[in-house]
Amino acid sequence: MPNPAPFDFQIRNAVECDVDALFSLEQQSFAGDRLSRRRLRHWVRAENRVFLVAEATDQLLGYALVLLRRGTRLARLYSIAVGPAGRGKGIGKALLSAAEDASSRSGRLYMRLEVAEANRAAIALYQQLGYRTFGSYANYYEDAGNALRMQKRIRYRPENLHTLEVPWYGQRTDFTCGPAAAMMAMAGLDARYEPNATDELALWREATTIFMTSGTGGCHPIGLALAMQKRGFDCAVYVNQSGPLFIHSVRSARKKSVIEQVDADYRQQAALSGLPVVTEDFSQEQCQQWLEDGALVIMLISTYRLDGKKVPHWVTLTGVDDECFYLHDPDVDDEDNPLDSQYLPIARDDITRMSIFGGEKLRTSVVVRQPDRP
Ligand SMILES: CC(C)(COP(=O)(O)OP(=O)(O)OC[C@H]1O[C@@H](n2cnc3c(N)ncnc32)[C@H](O)[C@@H]1OP(=O)(O)O)[C@@H](O)C(=O)NCCC(=O)NCCS
Repeated sequence: MPNPAPFDFQIRNAVECDVDALFSLEQQSFAGDRLSRRRLRHWVRAENRVFLVAEATDQLLGYALVLLRRGTRLARLYSIAVGPAGRGKGIGKALLSAAEDASSRSGRLYMRLEVAEANRAAIALYQQLGYRTFGSYANYYEDAGNALRMQKRIRYRPENLHTLEVPWYGQRTDFTCGPAAAMMAMAGLDARYEPNATDELALWREATTIFMTSGTGGCHPIGLALAMQKRGFDCAVYVNQSGPLFIHSVRSARKKSVIEQVDADYRQQAALSGLPVVTEDFSQEQCQQWLEDGALVIMLISTYRLDGKKVPHWVTLTGVDDECFYLHDPDVDDEDNPLDSQYLPIARDDITRMSIFGGEKLRTSVVVRQPDRP
């Protein structure tokens, strides 16, 4: 028997005259929580959405509807359905992939969705396309069923990204984000430098502020720059204030005086070793220029916009394009998906806000350059 011909269908944007066929697909595909004709018409006409249909010879086989909420970087898969006759032929997968592409082109970085816990076909489709469960809602549907919340990053390192190939290194302790970010920068600039757990702790011992917030000290930008300079890299520190750093996050007078002493010592060492410390704020344009000139940048951020906690955290800026900066986050967000911590896209509008730390509104970064070697 000859193989059956591959199933032929096209994906295109939904238009108003699809509404009847969409309504009928909706009836065939869902037992409850269906979209009404009026809602379908609304979404066909709306602008802040991706609404795609799959069709074969004038027959509508399926659709995917994604909402693009203004002011966020998230796309939300609002509904996807393939009529019973078209199922199991790759149409759902093709619709969702096309919807991800269109959402990514509209500047969205993540796709999120909710799916009924019992909907095995849909969950298998999402898992196959790389979605991960990150939460659940109880009694979400009309039939009181629970929903799983799933998410996928839809914007990866784009072709036209200006960046160096930077190896990623996950920090081994809570307090060594600074050393991990520094090691990534050094390894990205010089393939002979290999990040390792011993140097991670050595860097921390060279760069620690001793105290920070209430726990173990994090790393001081000048301390990190001095440590990288010692390893043969050219560095320059940018910091938007002249007083001792991280002093506001500590209450005890005794601890404050230790932090002050350490800060003063780093500044003195910087002066002695010719390390530039620029007491100025820095702009997005400067960051872009540094990256385009072949430098890498380690930057202090507040994790507030990543995980809701206001913790100081060092990351490595690894690339830039028209819409985003990309960073390597040394914190492993998900052990199984370290890719999610690499070339993590941050919208240009968000990067400045993200890099303001604490009540003192500290902004600091270290520009790291390849040393001139014979
Ligand atoms: C979920 C749905 C959209 C899938 O569409 P589809 O065109 O049949 O899916 P595809 O043929 O593209 O299948 C892609 C993958 O999904 C999974 N999948 C699809 N149907 C499946 C089923 N019945 N059982 C298990 N896995 C299934 C498989 O992993 C499949 O990959 P494979 O073919 O390599 O095994 C379709 O079943 C549907 O419309 N269901 C009713 C509406 C619905 O539940 N929508 C989701 C709301 S959250």
